[in-house]
Amino acid sequence: MKIGSANIKGKVVLAPMCSVTTLPYRILCRRYGAAAVWSEMVDADGFFYKKHRTPKTFMTVKEEHPVAAQLFGSNTENLVKAAKIILEDPVDIIDVNMGCPSFKLARKNAGAIMLKDTELIKDVVTSLSGSIDTPVTAKIRLGFDSAKDTIKIAKVIEKAGASAITVHARTMKDKYTGVADWNMIKKVKEAVGIPVIGNGDVRTPEDCKKMLEDTKCDLVMIGRAAIGNPFIFKRCNHYLETGEILPEPTAHEKVEAYDTLCELMDKYYEPQLKDYRFHACWFTKNLIGGREARLAITKCESKDDIRRILGTLDNQTDTRKTPAKTISIPKSLCQ
Ligand SMILES: Cc1cc2nc3c(=O)[nH]c(=O)nc-3n(C[C@H](O)[C@H](O)[C@H](O)COP(=O)(O)O)c2cc1C
Repeated sequence: MKIGSANIKGKVVLAPMCSVTTLPYRILCRRYGAAAVWSEMVDADGFFYKKHRTPKTFMTVKEEHPVAAQLFGSNTENLVKAAKIILEDPVDIIDVNMGCPSFKLARKNAGAIMLKDTELIKDVVTSLSGSIDTPVTAKIRLGFDSAKDTIKIAKVIEKAGASAITVHARTMKDKYTGVADWNMIKKVKEAVGIPVIGNGDVRTPEDCKKMLEDTKCDLVMIGRAAIGNPFIFKRCNHYLETGEILPEPTAHEKVEAYDTLCELMDKYYEPQLKDYRFHACWFTKNLIGGREARLAITKCESKDDIRRILGTLDNQTDTRKTPAKTISIPKSLCQ
């Protein structure tokens, strides 16, 4: 399928997640079958406060394409300027965050608070899509405190020139509570002509197929279930293609993926201890002994110590556990 000029081969894409979908994690997920990847959100205004763009602000390489760079902000001039700076390196999609409930963004009239103001949404999408040749997309929630305007918002985004729309099927007020309302994804799909990307609560290959069938969305976007679990893409793809469920990854496969991620992190930026710890903790999820390993990892003072702890899990023959039904994210990371 195509989003504007961007060619996407496959049905399952990686969601934007701050502190998670940095360049190394995006590359890892592409290697494990994500059809496209979204960057963590980047502050459009931030480009103009800092003297120099740091490599962590936004960086891309050929291997990760197709990639969407996500911006947040409400100052149309800064958004356009920031998009143009990002596009000095080829990027397939410029995405605008209209779903983050964080106060940090609301203060700037950005993120989910924009859902209250369809004029602002129109201005932002019109300015961006009229100023760059790269497809522009928007990622929304169903609304600020209710879903009564979801269709109106989606139509404004389409009319303003967006090439696709991602719907995280919760309101901003819901944060991460309750169950994502996939029926609203279906309604948006019926209401607009541009591709619709469904998002919210896809945790398994079966969920992925069900979202595609129930909503008729064009792509499924996976967030939390992909943290420490790039395998989800391969497993979803395999299930969609064959109807067969691949087993959960073994401890060995997880440690292997973590090692690859570390190589990528070391290659593309100077990771801090907290980066290794963060990912190592997530890769131990659903492994027998994982809880104890996580406790030990949080106390590790070096990358090698973390790796040694993972090694103890890797040595076990089969440490798979049934995956948890819910995924809890540390409060500090929840957008
Ligand atoms: C740690 C974390 C960071 C996130 N950061 C962003 C972000 O930068 N931009 C964005 O649009 N959404 C962000 N989200 C929301 C996800 O993209 C996604 O919409 C949400 O998690 C629902 O999908 P899921 O049920 O598959 O996790 C974040 C979510 C999490 C858990």
